[in-house]
Amino acid sequence: MSVFILGIESSCDDTSASVINETRILSNVISNQDVHLKFGGVVPELACRAHQQKIIPVIDQALKLANINKNQLNAIAFTNGPGLLGSLLVGTSFAKAFAMGLDIPLIEVDHINAHILAHFIQPEKGSKEVPEFPFLCLLISGGHTQIVLVNNYFEMKVLGSTLDDAAGEAFDKSAKILGLPYPGGPLIDEFAKKGDDKKFPFPHPSVAGLDFSFSGLKTSILYFLRDKMKEDNLFIEKNKYDLCASIQSTIVDILMKKLEKAVKQTGINQVAIAGGVSANSGLRDVMIKKQVKDKWKVFIPDHLFCTDNAAMIAVTGYFKYLKKEFSDQSISPYSRSRNGKYTES
Ligand code: KG4
Ligand code: ZN
Repeated sequence: MSVFILGIESSCDDTSASVINETRILSNVISNQDVHLKFGGVVPELACRAHQQKIIPVIDQALKLANINKNQLNAIAFTNGPGLLGSLLVGTSFAKAFAMGLDIPLIEVDHINAHILAHFIQPEKGSKEVPEFPFLCLLISGGHTQIVLVNNYFEMKVLGSTLDDAAGEAFDKSAKILGLPYPGGPLIDEFAKKGDDKKFPFPHPSVAGLDFSFSGLKTSILYFLRDKMKEDNLFIEKNKYDLCASIQSTIVDILMKKLEKAVKQTGINQVAIAGGVSANSGLRDVMIKKQVKDKWKVFIPDHLFCTDNAAMIAVTGYFKYLKKEFSDQSISPYSRSRNGKYTES
């Protein structure tokens, strides 16, 4: 029997729904929320209300684009955490009610787990090579920065993580210092393409093992610019592109140094990147070069599957469906990462 899963993602400020046929994507609708733009960050209460307005039209469109009827669905997969509780509650409540109404299984999905399993989404036509187990995954998003040893779909070990800010936060906070709007990551990426990445060398943190730290970078950018702006209050405007290129290359270097260390330590050279920051073109270029230079087998997600999307929730739901790992109606969302839950020591 062919399995159809509806995935629902509502952990932050994107309302998304996707239908997949086993691992093959049939639709992936993502609706962003403009309401946060003027606040310079996501306002949780506004995000929750916007999800309430968008969830039904987004799901309706995902079913239409997939050209299937709701009665053909075999299960509903939804993000249960981590994320903003109010936002998660909208997706969770809708998923519960929809699964109950259709009398089909309900499948809870961990958002972080799903970012990694996005590598297993197959295009609607043709096929894409997927990583073999075990592989390493650098998971870099707005809330997480981790190097994960992926032994199986649900057996993952965190080898290193950030002690303070996540890589996405490092991009967004640096952008804020430069006066760029939220989220600043994509803008830094765009401006960096026109700049000299060696112009302003920012210091690298010294952190043991495979852990990361990004808060020092933010502070050094802040002090550097404070001094420069005293001399010339147009300094940022005049050096916007070189500043973005230098900040981006520092963050990418910090990430890559630890990833190289992880490859050395584990002897595993199948390396994937996942999460919003994996959309960064500087990082993607460096990863591609690693294939030739160091013979890594590199897995880089399509842009659409880097940032938050429901296709990654649906595909993770499919792997849980095969194991008959279903949730009951008493399930409730969680805000903090539950990495420990799927970490083998
Ligand atoms: O995975 P994601 O969509 O949401 C979370 O689960 O956090 O990641 C969002 C993060 C934001 O910090 C955003 O600035 C960053 O990913 N991001 C980027 C790029 N696109 C998104 N950072 C650097 N370069 C990009 N092109
Ligand atoms: Zn995410």
